[in-house]
Amino acid sequence: MARSAPILADSTLRLHDLEPSSEEFRRAAVAGLSASPKTLPCKFFYDAEGSRLFDAICELPEYYPTRTELAILRRNAGAMAEAIGPEARIVEFGSGAGIKIRLLLEALERPAAYVPVDISREHMMAAAAGLAADFPRLRIAPVCADYTQPFGLPSIRGVTSRATVGFFPGSTIGNFTPTEAVAFLARARRLLGPGSMMLVGVDVPKDPHILEAAYDDAAGVTAAFNRNLLVRMQRELGARLDLDGFRHEARWCAERRRVEMHLVSLARQEIVIGPARFPLARGETIHTENSYKYAVPEFRALAGRSGWLPAEVWTDPDNLFSVHLLRSG
Ligand code: TRP
Repeated sequence: MARSAPILADSTLRLHDLEPSSEEFRRAAVAGLSASPKTLPCKFFYDAEGSRLFDAICELPEYYPTRTELAILRRNAGAMAEAIGPEARIVEFGSGAGIKIRLLLEALERPAAYVPVDISREHMMAAAAGLAADFPRLRIAPVCADYTQPFGLPSIRGVTSRATVGFFPGSTIGNFTPTEAVAFLARARRLLGPGSMMLVGVDVPKDPHILEAAYDDAAGVTAAFNRNLLVRMQRELGARLDLDGFRHEARWCAERRRVEMHLVSLARQEIVIGPARFPLARGETIHTENSYKYAVPEFRALAGRSGWLPAEVWTDPDNLFSVHLLRSG
């Protein structure tokens, strides 16, 4: 819902606010809990607390994707900047704490503008303020939006850019189903326009023990992140439920090449949201997230189906993670 007051008074950071309402959360929660098997949409993980927990996940010893992708970016930022060219406009889908974009911005030649798009408003604005301080010549136009829904790019007065480049790190593309991923990439291609490019971070299949540990860490941060969905339902929807009645579970599903995240009901119980009651059997799960993994050729084929031309790919020496450059053609 459009809210006009920007979080920061700083006129260089005028927020374009399309944050989903709690009514949308209610509708999604009721629809997901009415489905069989039960689900909750993963985008609602990212309220202020969820974003904080997610940043903690990225620092966990078990969670290899962040540090591996950062190493790939560090090592290849020069080559990426060369492929992108000068005066680019970067649009980041799910900008979060804004750590990865710094590596790219530092390598790029005179980057013209940066458009972070994130569902978590305060978190994004804090990151944008930090970037504004460190890159005084960069125009920053933050958009608070659910980028799985259509949205427009803000116009930035006085900025002429050459290429527009989508930046989608973190293997967030793996949180869509393959069909959704193709649709998202096709939509991003239309949004970014002719001559655009896209840099996409993609996690690859590997030993299931490594995968399951990455999504079920010993310190229980990922469990807290998953259960934060239940906390949000209590607080924002007035839901009645037993927080301790659920356990976090991460399972590697080999056929579908995805890690599934579930909240497993430890007892026969009910979740109550207003007049709606959702009974759960003992052992029944609420499926909250998928994280699909793609080998390099698989992802190139998927990107091709969305209309992009797969160009360069960068990986780490252990082939744990990949960063793909796509060209619009
Ligand atoms: N894009 C991240 C991933 O798939 C998101 C993520 C990491 C995540 N850890 C999580 C989502 C735990 C839900 C639960 O790796």
